[in-house]
Amino acid sequence: MISCVLGARDIFLAGTGSFALEIADWAQAAGWRVAGLIELVDPARVGSTVDGLLVVDPSAAIAGEGCVAVALGGDRREHWSRLEPHGWSPASVVHPLAHLSGSARLEPGCVLGPGVAVGAHTVLGPHTLVSRGALIGHHSVLGAYVTVNPGANIAGNVVIGERAFIGMGAIVVNNASVGEGATVAAGSLVLKDVTAGVRVQGVPAREYRDGDGNGAGRA
Ligand SMILES: CC(C)(COP(=O)(O)OP(=O)(O)OC[C@H]1O[C@@H](n2cnc3c(N)ncnc32)[C@H](O)[C@@H]1OP(=O)(O)O)[C@@H](O)C(=O)NCCC(=O)NCCS
Repeated sequence: MISCVLGARDIFLAGTGSFALEIADWAQAAGWRVAGLIELVDPARVGSTVDGLLVVDPSAAIAGEGCVAVALGGDRREHWSRLEPHGWSPASVVHPLAHLSGSARLEPGCVLGPGVAVGAHTVLGPHTLVSRGALIGHHSVLGAYVTVNPGANIAGNVVIGERAFIGMGAIVVNNASVGEGATVAAGSLVLKDVTAGVRVQGVPAREYRDGDGNGAGRA
């Protein structure tokens, strides 16, 4: 159980690594008080502190209280599935230096870093992560649990399927789609639709088959 008294602007972050500390920085800039970090990987860390933040177990939520944002790399759906049964509510972290069109819509649990721009009528699905300096054009739709890494440039009228991963600096041109669970490697130039579940890379981006599953090494 969480022993502290939670206020309306208190948030927990799921993750205890360096990325979680980066999201803690964004959350504080956005006016949240970070009440602690939730350990999803190594139970031995529960009870310790990281950068002054208490590390708690996912079962620490009091039913109906405690909100959390996913703040570790990898499969965001998998991470959320380990939090939701314990009664956590999803909270969004939007850095004050992110710019969102007034007609853009964010579903709960989104994390947006500094320098992000989201265009008109674009929808970000639940638990999407859009990292530092990534650009999302107008009338685009990002599905649930999508990751867009730093400096990626998603054009307008793009559809990105649930759990897809866009590596840093990648470009997706207008009207292209990226299928569910696909990986776009860092620095790729996506000129045509990407099939669900595959990994593409290069300029222009082409499908890569490594024989032991796509997406290995995603960060
Ligand atoms: C797609 C990705 C996950 C692949 O990582 P990986 O599985 O470790 O890749 P491998 O080392 O097995 O690479 C296999 C081949 O693909 C090539 N390759 C890997 N990443 C590539 C990329 N981004 N663009 C072009 N080719 C790439 C490698 O050079 C290698 O080619 P080779 O077989 O001819 O030598 C990784 O490149 C990537 O883009 N990660 C995202 C990084 C990121 O956005 N980080 C942000 C953190 S905030």
